[in-house]
Amino acid sequence: MKKQKVCFELQVFDSINELSQESQELMQKAIAARKDAYAPYSNFLVGAAVLLENGEVVIGNNQENASFPSGLCAERVAVFQAGARYPGETIKSIAISAASKRYTVDKPAAPCGNCRQSISEYEVRQKSPIELFLMGETGQIIRCASIADILPLAFDTSFL
Ligand code: THU
Repeated sequence: MKKQKVCFELQVFDSINELSQESQELMQKAIAARKDAYAPYSNFLVGAAVLLENGEVVIGNNQENASFPSGLCAERVAVFQAGARYPGETIKSIAISAASKRYTVDKPAAPCGNCRQSISEYEVRQKSPIELFLMGETGQIIRCASIADILPLAFDTSFL
């Protein structure tokens, strides 16, 4: 038996102003997208902005449904829209911001497991890392260099 340790490094920024100009603009688009979330059941509003290699930014926000599982998270709305509108275009970064109508989200919101899997599909396909910027309404921002960092031992196409 051998033991293996899986670890990853993330970057923590105290304010949006510490990000590069490009990443600040992307996060601002995620924040703006959040306002149009359709979240009457959870009152939890998420915005995502996807920056593509061609410079285009595609946004998404969570879209809920009275039949709860039929709704979709902001991240998947955004990456699926990017895939539909710009097929095969490389995704460079995704900024995510979350807010609640019930309290102030003061820590970075991380994508759910299903969204990690969906984003991973694009990263594996394009063979280059997708960086993530995660934020609440206020507080710190986390940068992950790759979706693989937060989805270790992922299931991917190599198994099929
Ligand atoms: N949500 C997202 O949009 N992204 C996440 O990564 C976590 C959760 C949404 C789904 C649902 O509409 C609401 O937040 C509460 O779970």
